[in-house]
Amino acid sequence: MNGKAAAAETEAQGRASFGFREVATADKQRLVDDVFARVAERYDLMNDLMSGGLHRLWKDAMVAWLSPPRRSSLPFAVLDVAGGTGDIAFRIAERSQSAVITVADINKDMLAVGEKRAAERRLADRVTFTEANAEALPFADGRFDAVTVAFGIRNVPRIDKALTEALRVLKPGGRFLCLEFSAVDVAVLDRVYELYSFNVIPMIGGWVIGDEEPYRYLVESIRRFPNQARFAAMIEKAGFARVAFRNLSGGIAAIHSGWKL
Ligand SMILES: C[S@@+](CC[C@H](N)C(=O)[O-])C[C@H]1O[C@@H](n2cnc3c(N)ncnc32)[C@H](O)[C@@H]1O
Repeated sequence: MNGKAAAAETEAQGRASFGFREVATADKQRLVDDVFARVAERYDLMNDLMSGGLHRLWKDAMVAWLSPPRRSSLPFAVLDVAGGTGDIAFRIAERSQSAVITVADINKDMLAVGEKRAAERRLADRVTFTEANAEALPFADGRFDAVTVAFGIRNVPRIDKALTEALRVLKPGGRFLCLEFSAVDVAVLDRVYELYSFNVIPMIGGWVIGDEEPYRYLVESIRRFPNQARFAAMIEKAGFARVAFRNLSGGIAAIHSGWKL
């Protein structure tokens, strides 16, 4: 059985994958929280070092695909789930004068870094930060024009619940976009990427935050995440329409899109 099929079987048994380990679904969130509490202060620097800055282009591509109205008399309400330190929210706010973005994340340490960055960018009036679990969002039905998630969904223990919640809080006609690491579709690139991820990324983690372990989890969790087609099927199953995806950098990452119709 391959890693992704094993992950699906694990989930069906009330257990979740925490990287390559199997843990009780109820324990996964605590372990994930511990990872992000440990990396929060250096999270943005590590993203640049690990991806050679590529994560910036991938995030730009997601916001370009979202294409929020540049100006409008009505506010364009966006929820950025698992929004961490605010990268997606700031991009949306800088592109659209009418965008009002709520960043929801379960981790206080990540949110604290995000709030500080919003103040430095003078965006605190349009980008707000809320502690919230993607599986049980504290927002009314139909409140947002768009829901985004970047590199967050694979950390959520019950992905199906997070997708159902995203659908619930969207207005009819609203858009869901999800950026996540995915399956590389070029064999040579896949091999190079695997060697890089398992050897170099934890080592950079060791140098920068003095701990390789959180980055070993991040790399392993990427390998366990469903590929493009399987994740698209999960989004459809949650009730989204016109589901589509675009690969980035040969499938190292992919953006999935769906609509609430
Ligand atoms: C890799 S970071 C991504 C942060 C940001 N979206 C970005 O692209 O830079 C993953 C984030 O998911 C958050 N997260 C994990 N489980 C969550 C959950 N159940 N609900 C909300 N956020 C969660 C973590 O706290 C962390 O901030």
